[in-house]
Amino acid sequence: MKILTFSAMLLAAFFGIFQSTHSQQPAPAVTPAPAQPVDVTCFESRKGASEVVKRELSVGVPNVKCSPKTGAVLWWSDPFDGTVPMGDMPQMDRIPSGKAVVKPRSEKLALLPSCGIACHNGVGPKFIPPTLPTSKKPTPIPTMAAMVPDLQNLQHGRERIWCLDCHHTTQRNKLVDNFGDPISIDQPQLLCGKCHGDRLRDWRDGIHGKRIGEWASAGKKRWFTCTECHNPHNVQDGARNRGFVQLAPESPPQIPKGMKDASWEKTPGVPH
Ligand code: HEC
Ligand code: HEC
Ligand code: HEC
Repeated sequence: MKILTFSAMLLAAFFGIFQSTHSQQPAPAVTPAPAQPVDVTCFESRKGASEVVKRELSVGVPNVKCSPKTGAVLWWSDPFDGTVPMGDMPQMDRIPSGKAVVKPRSEKLALLPSCGIACHNGVGPKFIPPTLPTSKKPTPIPTMAAMVPDLQNLQHGRERIWCLDCHHTTQRNKLVDNFGDPISIDQPQLLCGKCHGDRLRDWRDGIHGKRIGEWASAGKKRWFTCTECHNPHNVQDGARNRGFVQLAPESPPQIPKGMKDASWEKTPGVPH
């Protein structure tokens, strides 16, 4: 019995050493290692709505590098991976075609393919699915309550706008412009710009939002669209009561080699 315990200890010690030499490499925190490689999912800009699965674009080159702390994408090896041309936008004619690209929102939305055909086609029986609405005013929609927070007293616009200010009445897989014409879900900027013209202008000028890609001003860029960052149904985030769900900050950068702490940062630098 004693010998058994001793050899078990030896084994455990050996295993410990084996583990610690291996822990030099960044290994997944969970042991034992799975036989099948598990998909690693990171998010690009809005958690829960802009997820990408990590994969290799070519041997040894991952499509993205992600923060181990927040799961946010920190680096793209190909900024245009999965993008399509942005489509027509007023005041953007000076950008050569194909130079402004976006990631389509529609492929991130699980319900979208059925929105316009299964429920909101206006021909269903009276109880469920509902017939088309006759007014734009808030009414109870129990089937949607789990998806849209504060559904009846929608906090976007502080109860002054509602579903059909954004969604097309008859084509439910489309958004709607001021004339009642459909807008693609992939061009939310045309919708948001109806009411947030100043923000749209800032976005167009590169002051609001984010772009990645070629540095030159006439170069090809991926533009992040409004809904990649903002949840259109919840723009007043909880206690902050502001438009953006904040992430926990990353840890501070590593201290340079040979330095014990970062106190040197507090001493004034060389005068210019
Ligand atoms: C301010 C504009 C706006 C309002 C108001 C609004 N929506 Fe939306 N809704 C959008 C946009 C934009 C999208 C696409 C979201 C995206 O790309 O992530 C969307 C997506 C959806 C989806 C598809 C979600 C999915 O995952 O497939 C449903 C369902 C939906 N809205 C229902 C509603 C209902 C019901 C209301 C009213 C209570 C409402 N919306 C109010 C703009 C709005
Ligand atoms: C029909 C008009 C309308 C549309 C369309 C619309 N909004 Fe709004 N939005 C408003 C109003 C009104 C407010 C509320 C301002 C207030 O009273 O605080 C608001 C508030 C916001 C806020 C919060 C502002 C803050 O100060 O924190 C954000 C963020 C926002 N909208 C983003 C969007 C995005 C993104 C879209 C497109 C998906 C969009 N909105 C579409 C009318 C609109
Ligand atoms: C890369 C992410 C990103 C994109 C893309 C983006 N926004 Fe924002 N937006 C933000 C952040 C971050 C804030 C600051 C929110 C806060 O302070 O809580 C903000 C704030 C806002 C506000 C509130 C302004 C205020 O004073 O607080 C509005 C309205 C808004 N955005 C609309 C838009 C519209 C419309 C688009 C598309 C044309 C857009 N945003 C695209 C990240 C983005």
